Amino acid sequence: MATARDTRTTPADITASVVASFEDCGDERLRTLLQAFVRHLHSFAVEVGLTQEEWDRAVAVLTETGHITDDRRQEFILWSDTLGLSMLVDALANPLPAGATESTVLGPFYVPDAPLREYGASLAEEPAGEPAWVHGRVLHLDGNGIADAELDVWQNGDNRLYAVQDPEAPEAHLRGRFRTRADGSYAFVAVRPVPYTIPDDGPVGKMLAATARHPWRPAHIHLIVRAPGFRTLVTHVFDGTSDYLESDAVFAVKPSLVREFVRRAPGEAEPPPGVEGEWWDVENDLVLAPV
Ligand code: BEZ
Ligand code: FE
Repeated sequence: MATARDTRTTPADITASVVASFEDCGDERLRTLLQAFVRHLHSFAVEVGLTQEEWDRAVAVLTETGHITDDRRQEFILWSDTLGLSMLVDALANPLPAGATESTVLGPFYVPDAPLREYGASLAEEPAGEPAWVHGRVLHLDGNGIADAELDVWQNGDNRLYAVQDPEAPEAHLRGRFRTRADGSYAFVAVRPVPYTIPDDGPVGKMLAATARHPWRPAHIHLIVRAPGFRTLVTHVFDGTSDYLESDAVFAVKPSLVREFVRRAPGEAEPPPGVEGEWWDVENDLVLAPV
């Protein structure tokens, strides 16, 4: 006697039919993205044996992420940052030649159109911490200086806040754009940055707390470096003595971006413009890759 054919629908049948539903998509890249996304999403659910309750919970988290996101707060990018996807996409999209300064995340506190400031000027519009003289050269891969490159710089103060987070701070505080001199040199007076927490009062913060992770970032200064004929570099300078270098909440530390902040006593070396008392000396060359 012939056995009845089993006609039940399996998980693999479901995945196959969803993948096939994109077959007629005329945009080849879109088809590739969606078919691979569905395959990986379904295989994730199969691998962990995703329950209905867990999926309902995930949908609630996505809904909460949408509700907290607006023009000023971007919780979706914070998920990408805290799950390491921002760093992974950057690494895949921006492979750099040997010798070029490495890139890292932009973060949510960048505001375009910072004021143009003179060589050696201060970023701080009001007292914000211990002065740090940040200087170096913007260079070609061959070691020659790049004249007239633009450095777009922003950082937090000793209250942990970026100006954009602090209603009390002047808009231009701890932000500035600088141009390199003919030999590629640049310099500015920053303040010594301090560690701070990423926004953790939303669903990403709940994930960190539920998984025994912390929301801290190690102390850093942000830089975007632009010059015609070169790839724009989005990077940080990390303070080599900071806490959290080994456990950055957004996985953005690259060892090549860590610098020593050297303490200088008054009279020990020529002080930066306007600085009295102790200060920190930070040398940081930046090497750009050609377009
Ligand atoms: C930042 O460094 O400004 C930052 C980067 C990613 C998430 C939150 C903050
Ligand atoms: Fe930052």
